[in-house]
Amino acid sequence: MKKEELQAIAAQLKHPTGEKGIEMANMMHETNINMTRHSIQNLNIAAENKILELGHGNASHLEFVMQQAEKLTYYGLEMSELMFQEARQINRDYVSQKQAFFSLYDGNAIPFQDSFFDKIFTVNTIYFWQEPEKFLLEIYRILKPDGNFCLTFAEENFMKQLPFTAYEFTLYSTEKVQLLIEKTAFKIVYTETLTEKVKSKMGELVDRAFTTIVLEK
Ligand SMILES: C[S@@+](CC[C@H](N)C(=O)[O-])C[C@H]1O[C@@H](n2cnc3c(N)ncnc32)[C@H](O)[C@@H]1O
Repeated sequence: MKKEELQAIAAQLKHPTGEKGIEMANMMHETNINMTRHSIQNLNIAAENKILELGHGNASHLEFVMQQAEKLTYYGLEMSELMFQEARQINRDYVSQKQAFFSLYDGNAIPFQDSFFDKIFTVNTIYFWQEPEKFLLEIYRILKPDGNFCLTFAEENFMKQLPFTAYEFTLYSTEKVQLLIEKTAFKIVYTETLTEKVKSKMGELVDRAFTTIVLEK
């Protein structure tokens, strides 16, 4: 593949736009659903929880979130206008029932008051955080004192084999994420790395290692 094609894939993964962005979001949902479910299941969601997801893509997994307990409220934040629109359209029933709220933001300052959420999760976004330490402090600020934050990402050793990650991506191993977290007041409760078979962008099956880190205040 040419350099321009690899750059285009990386740019779409970072910020889906246009016709190609819709296709990319559908593909991401299918390829990443196992990671997304792992993140959600590690949140220990309870009835009436307020849940925030950062970088939800098309949010086709919202029903899975809502199945975890009764009377949940889901908030989704995105930087991509296309993903914001797609997620609202796909989940229009939850939106009209005021069980789900989607918003756009700048990817840095999270537009919610302190200690607002019981649970926060994010899947496959850490590679694009502009100021990782500051961003973790923002997440800390909006999490309730007894809340949980699940951070799920694919391991650097796997990701670096994918040629498009040379552009736009900052890659992380579990150790690198743990060092980053140590710079904040977050405590690590649990870390799990799993390996799964996924179809690569080139079509063949590959082993992907991914990790969920569960954090608390
Ligand atoms: C690689 S996709 C992952 C989508 C989905 N979470 C998944 O795993 O399939 C990254 C998504 O996160 C969004 N994004 C990137 N940086 C972000 C940030 N700082 N906050 C929220 N969303 C972000 C992008 O617009 C894109 O939709």
